[in-house]
Amino acid sequence: MRFCREIGALYIDTVAEPWLGFYFDDKMDNEQRTNYALREAVLEERRRAPGGLTAVSCCGANPGMVSWFVKRALVNLAADLNDSHPEPKTREEWAALAMRLGVKGIHIAERDTQRAIHPKQRDVFVNTWSVEGFLSEGMQPAELGWGTHEKWKPDNAGEHKTGCGAAIYLNQPGANTRVRSWCPTPGAQYGFLVTHNEAISIADYFTARDAGGNVVYRPTCHYAYHPADDAVLSLHELFGRAGRIQPAHHILTEHEIEDGVDELGVLLYGHANNAYWYGSQLSIEETRRIAPYQNATGLQVTSAILAGMVYALENPNVGIVEADEMDFRRCLEVQSPYLGPLVGRYTDWTPLTDRPGFFPEDIDESDPWQFRNILVR
Ligand SMILES: NC(=O)c1ccc[n+]([C@@H]2O[C@H](COP(=O)([O-])OP(=O)(O)OC[C@H]3O[C@@H](n4cnc5c(N)ncnc54)[C@H](O)[C@@H]3O)[C@@H](O)[C@H]2O)c1
Repeated sequence: MRFCREIGALYIDTVAEPWLGFYFDDKMDNEQRTNYALREAVLEERRRAPGGLTAVSCCGANPGMVSWFVKRALVNLAADLNDSHPEPKTREEWAALAMRLGVKGIHIAERDTQRAIHPKQRDVFVNTWSVEGFLSEGMQPAELGWGTHEKWKPDNAGEHKTGCGAAIYLNQPGANTRVRSWCPTPGAQYGFLVTHNEAISIADYFTARDAGGNVVYRPTCHYAYHPADDAVLSLHELFGRAGRIQPAHHILTEHEIEDGVDELGVLLYGHANNAYWYGSQLSIEETRRIAPYQNATGLQVTSAILAGMVYALENPNVGIVEADEMDFRRCLEVQSPYLGPLVGRYTDWTPLTDRPGFFPEDIDESDPWQFRNILVR
């Protein structure tokens, strides 16, 4: 990023990728292996060299596009809840809107139903996008933007002493951390709380402070990812042997997929209308039609990169930016033709729906949207 800005080249990436060795360095502690630390390095570079040539940080589907979905969802929710304020223009106004609407938290709620023609073989990790990428982030600590409404914290949570302060991490791998969430097609589902840059950047962006700089509002924010079934099986196999990674990796190409949809959106919860999901339902069939040789997951990512490139060309001198700070309308205008149906859905589901069942559970019935009720323990 620094080099590109020095030589006068516009820059974009889809993840704050560290140098080789970072993810599996056993000399580093868990706090050092977080996305929080990686994002702080980017923010530090921005403080060191503010403004200048545009470099877009973390602009794929997620991180990336989902930050634009959050703004679109907030605008839709504001209209449905008869909020009469004009659309926000600044970060502070966006945070004020989320606070006014009573949004307690945001899941990046995804269900990938893309189904392989041939079943997964033993000892092969199968996924619909980079296996290397998924394994790296999946073995990092689980991380989440930590909202001001939370009353309980897991015993193994760690806090950061420096930086923006918007997130915590858990001393357990994200790909072995399950949460309860909701997507339109499956309804209630388990997702993996895999660490992602957007969980931190969104929580940070929507933080409201008083005149003294004290935090008065922040939404909880994290990924709740149900990957393709073959990837779920791959994780089950991997953690069944204490995290020893399979010798073979495979990314499903579009001709190896029978059918399915990557349903990727944001679930805004805890407000007067309970919960609202807004996102993309891109099928493998539609993907084949509009962009041959990609699967649905790939197209959601590459079309976000396209939108980010257009943004950078049209705004070449805004310095280092995150997706949360970009013009969400323009970006979605560029990207929408590649996303299949873009839908908004309300649900009356909460993490306490149908609970407790036969067995006692440690739940907080006073507020369904506590992380205590969301985390599977
Ligand atoms: N933001 C998003 O929505 C999103 C989605 C998918 C992937 N990603 C990220 O994008 C990146 C690429 O994903 P992908 O699916 O194309 O991955 P991939 O595994 O298909 O490809 C990664 C490529 O990087 C190459 N590579 C590995 N180490 C290298 C090194 N040290 N120097 C140069 N090249 C190296 C590999 O040979 C491979 O060709 C990953 O970091 C992934 O986490 C982001």
